[in-house]
Amino acid sequence: MNKVALHRALMHSPVSQIRAFTSIGSTNDEALQWIDEDAPDFALVIADQQTKGRGRLNRAWITQPEASLAFSVIFRPTRSELAAPSALYAPLCGLAVCQTLRESLGLNPKIKWPNDILLEQQKCCGILVEASWTGVQLNGIVMGIGINITAQAIPPDAILRFPATWVEKYTRQPVERFNLLAQITSAMQFWRSHMDSREFIETWQKQLAFRGETVRIVQNEKTSIIGIEEGIDGLGNLVLREVSGKITTVEVGDVSLRLED
Ligand code: ATP
Ligand code: BTN
Repeated sequence: MNKVALHRALMHSPVSQIRAFTSIGSTNDEALQWIDEDAPDFALVIADQQTKGRGRLNRAWITQPEASLAFSVIFRPTRSELAAPSALYAPLCGLAVCQTLRESLGLNPKIKWPNDILLEQQKCCGILVEASWTGVQLNGIVMGIGINITAQAIPPDAILRFPATWVEKYTRQPVERFNLLAQITSAMQFWRSHMDSREFIETWQKQLAFRGETVRIVQNEKTSIIGIEEGIDGLGNLVLREVSGKITTVEVGDVSLRLED
């Protein structure tokens, strides 16, 4: 990891302290441990490679050396921030990544509810938000973000649950990972201060993938709901219109969204 270039790129960013690794198990694990020590608000853990990168439900997230941007940001929520629904932290990251891909690279990313970023209907970024608790007290939130930058980042088809893509496929020029990171962290700071605004939900809704299309929400092997994706409500729940006309809202949880054939 080129730490000089990293520190230079992040000089004017909101990042307070940095732990940078050439290779690590998972940046989220390191961040959760750092919270238990003395991590300040907006501390960053970043690695060129992860050997135990995680998605939801302990599914593997593959991070090949220097092919991705894999990092975790620690928030120590203020008293007033604790009032915001915790389900909004993953979309906060999604909004920050989308804004950066759009404004800095001219791309047209979409958010697959609740928290995957797609380019041309393929996943280029995954987000895993985890919290650290002592009893009922929230110590901190870890926002883990993995973005496929080069073609080498793409895992073998056999392990993909959803088609994957990479950012440089669409930029036609090399992407400077640390500059992208600096812009994402600044955008995270912006959306953090707008979590209770209408703008937050409206901007999220505008970028929702598959809006107006028929999708399937898979709850488990036996249960799924099919409906037209209407949008999201003020709490970030997905709103579907079923064939019967019934409006159903789905809470963020261990569910998967797929386009229905
Ligand atoms: P779902 O689509 O079911 O909501 P998800 O997109 O939230 O799931 P996770 O279930 O959290 O994804 O787990 C990550 C999944 O992403 C892995 O199971 C694997 O299929 C896929 N994956 C792993 N590494 C990459 C990568 N570098 N790029 C794209 N997809 C990946
Ligand atoms: C998903 O696809 O749903 C989530 C993937 C999250 C991957 C990122 S990479 C940085 C951080 N460290 C991890 O182990 N996971 C997250």
